[in-house]
Amino acid sequence: MTNSLKCEQVPYSVLAAQYGTPLYVYSQKAMTDAFNLYQQAFADLKPLICYAVKANGNLSILRYFASLGCGFDIVSGGELERVLLAGGAAGKVIFSGVGKSSAEIEFALKNNIRCFNVESLAELERINSIAQRLNKIAPVSLRINPDVDAHTHPYISTGLKANKFGIASQDALTAYQLAATLPHLKITGIDCHIGSQLTDLSPLIEALQRLLVLVDKLDELGIRIEHIDLGGGIGIVYQNENVPDLNAYAAAVSKLLSGRNLPLILEPGRSLIGNTGSLLTTVEYIKQGEEKNFVIVDAAMNDLMRPSLYQAYHNIINASPTTADKFVADVVGPICETGDFLAKDRTIAAKAGDLLLIQSAGAYASSMASNYNTRCRAAEVLVNGTEHYLIRERETIDSLLATETACL
Ligand code: LLP
Repeated sequence: MTNSLKCEQVPYSVLAAQYGTPLYVYSQKAMTDAFNLYQQAFADLKPLICYAVKANGNLSILRYFASLGCGFDIVSGGELERVLLAGGAAGKVIFSGVGKSSAEIEFALKNNIRCFNVESLAELERINSIAQRLNKIAPVSLRINPDVDAHTHPYISTGLKANKFGIASQDALTAYQLAATLPHLKITGIDCHIGSQLTDLSPLIEALQRLLVLVDKLDELGIRIEHIDLGGGIGIVYQNENVPDLNAYAAAVSKLLSGRNLPLILEPGRSLIGNTGSLLTTVEYIKQGEEKNFVIVDAAMNDLMRPSLYQAYHNIINASPTTADKFVADVVGPICETGDFLAKDRTIAAKAGDLLLIQSAGAYASSMASNYNTRCRAAEVLVNGTEHYLIRERETIDSLLATETACL
């Protein structure tokens, strides 16, 4: 083990000493590289890449993606506030999600977002009536549920009949016909999102094929689709997954779209930010239980929910010059739940005081953090070469309790 483990050119030990742990650390270069991979793979199609804010909505991260030319996929009014505050262009924002409130729709309409990805007939009616009241025309795309199995964890699979998302394929034509009769809507697109952490290309391609059949049927009905949106991006390597090749994905999409003049939108989140970030944590104690060993760290399920929620694997490496022997242990946090673990049965060399790096924690880590057990949410740092910036302060107990009252 070496003590020179770095994010870009900054040793993690320096970051831990300056900002404390637990700490999310992101590499700006890795973000650029991830974005360029999409740009290059899909160069022929010149897609609008709408970064999925839910993956990590930190303002500095949004600002950086905006500077690279990204649009944004949002799922709440709060996410739109973030994008605008970060300097993102509302004209490149698409609004997904099954439960948009009237206030959120109004806010998005007033800001002239690019398009609503609509998930039900009731939502079509609601958007139309709000647009009418505001004397606006709302651009809409219909999210179609293509009923393909994305072969991912059931909690993040979204394109099956049983899922709450999208409009069933067989109802799509009726839904578009309804949209066409609503005077304050303008049909602009068609979209789908079949799931996240996809490690197989074929469901994505199958979904696209199914959407294209609908595009042709709609054309026969006189309804012209102006863009197609294939939803989130491909999966990333957490452990040893065989993730799809982006070039192969782009080539397959390009082939299917050739000659169609159908601009493409993509909504990647995880693959733009997931492997750019790590969660840095300090070992508090080593504990030998009767059946198991535990490495007890200062990060917990409230900082990284993925292992508890999806049995997700995150690689962990020791960032300190440790002299400890390797042993098998669960890496756990201080939270009072058996489900509070960051890794199970991991072979690791660690002793109290060591710094551990929980990798691939750029996506769906800080954005899913909670205050469970009255734990303050961790700070976030962005590294660029030899520079590092605090992009989110560690929460304080004062700010955490500021909205509560003890009134009885
Ligand atoms: N578009 C829509 C409509 C989505 O629902 C999502 C993710 C994305 C795009 C971005 O998908 P991505 O490129 O990141 O795969 N918390 C879970 C992931 C939930 C994904 C939800 N939707 C996790 O930690 O694995």
